[in-house]
Amino acid sequence: MKKSFPKEVYLNGAWSAHDKAFVSVFDRGYLLGDGIYEVIPVYEGKPFAVGGHLERFQNGLKTVGIDFDVEELKPLILEAIGRSGLQNSDAAIYIQVTRGVAPRTHFFPEDVQPGVLLYAYPITLKGFEEKKASVIVTEDRRWHRCDIKSISLMANVLANNEAHKRGVAENLLARDGYVTEGSHTSVFFVKDGVLYTHPEDHHILPGVTRKVVISLCQELSLTVSEQALHVNDITSMDEIFLTGTTVQVTAVTSATMGDKEVYTAAEAGPLTRRLQKAFVERVAAETGLT
Ligand SMILES: Cc1ncc(COP(=O)(O)O)c(C=O)c1O
Repeated sequence: MKKSFPKEVYLNGAWSAHDKAFVSVFDRGYLLGDGIYEVIPVYEGKPFAVGGHLERFQNGLKTVGIDFDVEELKPLILEAIGRSGLQNSDAAIYIQVTRGVAPRTHFFPEDVQPGVLLYAYPITLKGFEEKKASVIVTEDRRWHRCDIKSISLMANVLANNEAHKRGVAENLLARDGYVTEGSHTSVFFVKDGVLYTHPEDHHILPGVTRKVVISLCQELSLTVSEQALHVNDITSMDEIFLTGTTVQVTAVTSATMGDKEVYTAAEAGPLTRRLQKAFVERVAAETGLT
């Protein structure tokens, strides 16, 4: 689905058409990338894993010292779905909170009101099981606090634009030779029946979908080892898949490092398939869509 503007956006207390919502050029989000964001999936009008997303959002805001209570977003999420006419559609909620408007300084200004933006937009969530993602391995040039969902995404943007130019969907980012995650997804590898994914630390975002998948593995008695994989080992993996709010659980069928394709698969492997099925069931159970 081609990305389009939402019908209405919520900005600092008021709803308006997307082309009538403006921020000050002195908003620190605009000037400094000084803000935190979140994206929540909506299945047939029902938001999924809101608790996990809002908890991560609150943690991020607290970590960077933006004083904002995410509780006030809950009614706005449902209102955004209604105002954009997405009550029966698959969609995503985008939320960002910046430190607010103040004369430009590097240090935190005093008495500043956080700037809040929230909107719902349609996305395709169905049929992810049939998707096949190709990825390229690129250097992870991000900062050392990738656990914070900062709106400053320059390193992610540069990496994913490289992937886009090569005609592929995503990057496997490598720091010091070890795969951390994707530019906008988490990554799992499967070898001999064991799942591997980078441990939760400052070098990855604590993915909400990643957590859901780990809990599904526990339910299915699958072993997960939170251990980073060296890029040289990609070639010997049995399965690779990406997780994330929009990709859900998507099989990787090709990985290229430099000019060499180091991994290929005809289709999603057996554990990826089991987890995809379990994921669909979890979403259905939690959104009441069954
Ligand atoms: C860098 C990065 N890693 C992982 C993810 C996946 O996180 P989630 O499952 O919470 O969408 C995202 C999502 O935007 C991301 O930007």
